Amino acid sequence: MTRRFPPGSLEADDVLSGRVEGNFVRVLTRLLAAHAMAEKLTAIGYERALTTAGRPDLCSIVSKNLTEERKHAQLIYAALAELRVPEVQADRLLVSALKGPAFAAPRHFAENSADELGLVMAAVSLDMTGLIMIGVNYKESSYAPHARAAEVILAEEEEHELFASNVLRDAAERLGAEPVNQALREWLPRAVNFFGPPGSGFSFDCISYGLKARDNHELAELYLTLLERRLHQAGLEMPSLTRDYPHQLA
Ligand SMILES: [Fe+2]
Ligand SMILES: [Fe+2]
Repeated sequence: MTRRFPPGSLEADDVLSGRVEGNFVRVLTRLLAAHAMAEKLTAIGYERALTTAGRPDLCSIVSKNLTEERKHAQLIYAALAELRVPEVQADRLLVSALKGPAFAAPRHFAENSADELGLVMAAVSLDMTGLIMIGVNYKESSYAPHARAAEVILAEEEEHELFASNVLRDAAERLGAEPVNQALREWLPRAVNFFGPPGSGFSFDCISYGLKARDNHELAELYLTLLERRLHQAGLEMPSLTRDYPHQLA
């Protein structure tokens, strides 16, 4: 597929002045709204986990992550505001998507109390995935404000991914493999579905406009490869999943 706009080639003015087609603006707005929502739900989950995860030694890292996730959400909502889309309007675009499998992981984290293992699973399901989405897809966005925000977010998400890997290994050592394997079987389908459906018309538009570099399923495969390596290092088992989206335990 040919990419019509190179990385960082469009600014808010290009979009607002009508130099790009209306569908570009619609697709960009929805993509930013989904990114902002994922960051916001992750922040809500970290905020709750701060009081429920029950590990004082984790609190300082969790509160650092919380501050950063809030900042990530603000950065993307600021990019939407520049396009004259206020936060409530952006969130309204996602009313039905939020009920679907792509948002199950961040919603679960935001809506349920996470114990220590829940916190580990959220980090594995939201920070590892987020790092891939932002590093592979958004960093090279044709929309320069999104590419710039992604660069700021990426540096922090690299640390969150490291945190996720560390707490995963630590949980396997302290709690034993079985409870962690059990939690992985519960969380992995949601984590993979967070990338969204493969080959959708929306992703096709995103890729041809240069708003994404890769299709959702390519990112999901990258994630599974990375996670499998992490699980292997921690002596944990990779759950097997069904092939088709939305993925379930096989
Ligand atoms: Fe984030
Ligand atoms: Fe994160």
